[in-house]
Amino acid sequence: MHQDLTVDVAVVGAGITGVTAAYLLKQAGLRVAVLESRRIGNGETKRSTAHLTAVLDLRFRKLRSRFGRDGAKLAIEGHRAAIDQIESLVRALNVDCGFSRVNGYLAAETAQEIEALEDEAAVARELGLTPALVEAVPLPLRIRRALELEGQAQLNPRVYLDALADRVDGDGSQIFETTHVKDIEDGEPCRVVTDRGVVKARAVLVASGVPVSNQVFIHLKLAAYRTYAIAAKLPAPAPAGLVWDMKDPYHYVRGQVVDGVPYLIVGGEDHKVGEHDDTTEPFARLEAYAAERLGVTVAPTDHRWAGQIIEPADGLPYVGQNALSKHLFVATGYSGNGITGGTWAAMVLADQIRGLDNRWSKLLDATRIKPLAAVGAVAAENVDYPKHLIRDRLVPLGHRREMDAIAAGEGAVLSVDGVKLAVYRNGEGQLSALSPICPHLGCFVHWNSAEKSWDCPCHGSRFDAHGRVLNGPAVDPLQRREIPKEPEKAKS
Ligand SMILES: Cc1cc2nc3c(=O)[nH]c(=O)nc-3n(C[C@H](O)[C@H](O)[C@H](O)COP(=O)(O)OP(=O)(O)OC[C@H]3O[C@@H](n4cnc5c(N)ncnc54)[C@H](O)[C@@H]3O)c2cc1C
Ligand code: FES
Repeated sequence: MHQDLTVDVAVVGAGITGVTAAYLLKQAGLRVAVLESRRIGNGETKRSTAHLTAVLDLRFRKLRSRFGRDGAKLAIEGHRAAIDQIESLVRALNVDCGFSRVNGYLAAETAQEIEALEDEAAVARELGLTPALVEAVPLPLRIRRALELEGQAQLNPRVYLDALADRVDGDGSQIFETTHVKDIEDGEPCRVVTDRGVVKARAVLVASGVPVSNQVFIHLKLAAYRTYAIAAKLPAPAPAGLVWDMKDPYHYVRGQVVDGVPYLIVGGEDHKVGEHDDTTEPFARLEAYAAERLGVTVAPTDHRWAGQIIEPADGLPYVGQNALSKHLFVATGYSGNGITGGTWAAMVLADQIRGLDNRWSKLLDATRIKPLAAVGAVAAENVDYPKHLIRDRLVPLGHRREMDAIAAGEGAVLSVDGVKLAVYRNGEGQLSALSPICPHLGCFVHWNSAEKSWDCPCHGSRFDAHGRVLNGPAVDPLQRREIPKEPEKAKS
């Protein structure tokens, strides 16, 4: 984008939510500009392991107790409608992304888990699903019982997203990559200020993972988690099926063939952003799980990656008009079900933005603080914000001499002659420093050694080693700082 622009709808973020919404809005005859800081899908969507399912991270019993029988049925129906939407786009656009319908299995291994599983199966039946209880899963995983649901799906999210994105450009619509949104003003028109110019639009859809439009309110209802995945080469394709266990943190497994090479994908080991000292451990635990439970050895050349999951306080996404805004819409909080959740949100928002009724609008209302059962969860998650804001300032930090101990490619938050600094040593051994204060709401960032990033434990903003934003809600980088010169030693 080299100049200011006027469109019907500006979309912030080219992940599954933004690209799907842009596609649907364009199909409805609107002109859309999608503004993406990085490249299409390079947020979380292209990191996804893409289990497409109505077996949500929120268990059926909790779903029903929080949203009532009708609300729970609507939520399941929404995820199924999202899978159907994806399938119909794959077919209509002839996308070669390996979309296939497969069975999903929630697997129990202990007596307690079996009891919980049987209860889940009973609630699932009440909600209109037809699960079976089986003694084995198709993958070589030893389990005791599993809840089997037919008609779930899987795909390669990279290929799917790129194919959809290709159809957005043209006829007055366009995706602008490397275009960072710095500010969004509600109005008639709305103004979206980017580092490449201003976009004016009748409506703005903020599909940036966590919304970058809303500084405080919505973040009180969200918690950011890091999640981990490995893909190990297999001698032959794994049998079809999606499997999740019932542990906390949980694990999930499926096969995927990429460019003719069969892989086993194992994921999970989630933890809150910025709260884990050794971020290489989750990978080691996934590798141990693959070896012990599936007999698969992960080679050093196999793939390992991590990403961000946004947990909503009550278990369902927040989708719709932003609080106190007329023309700003948000979509966030998909848990680990964001490929379906993002597609569902896009379907809802494409209707709302056009002023049409949508059957899921009320259920997903982004401003809700309900049901009451979730209020406790909201408070519990957000105790973390004041806790980190205060506690991280009181924790004694390492001093100047500990800079010497920082290895190449590592970082640490230190107090250097009374100045708190986020210090990083690059591959050539040179040190540089940033302010450790997160520009969102002022918490201290922590070093993430596995991903070489500065992570904020409060609302999940992440920055690369040089302070550039990787994940919002922050939109500004960490400030550069000078390392104070070492005072001359007193002469003896
Ligand atoms: C390892 C892993 C495994 C997963 N497995 C599954 C699974 O099996 N099934 C499932 O359904 N979901 C899964 N998910 C979740 C799912 O991938 C995500 O929830 C989903 O992709 C989120 O989509 P999104 O469009 O909201 O966000 P993103 O894909 O993150 O897109 C948001 C975009 O906004 C951009 N952006 C942010 N700030 C700005 C700004 N200021 N200006 C401009 N652009 C900005 C970002 O660069 C990004 O590209 C998984 C996620 C991970 C990480
Ligand atoms: S993400 Fe909110 S203070 Fe850092």
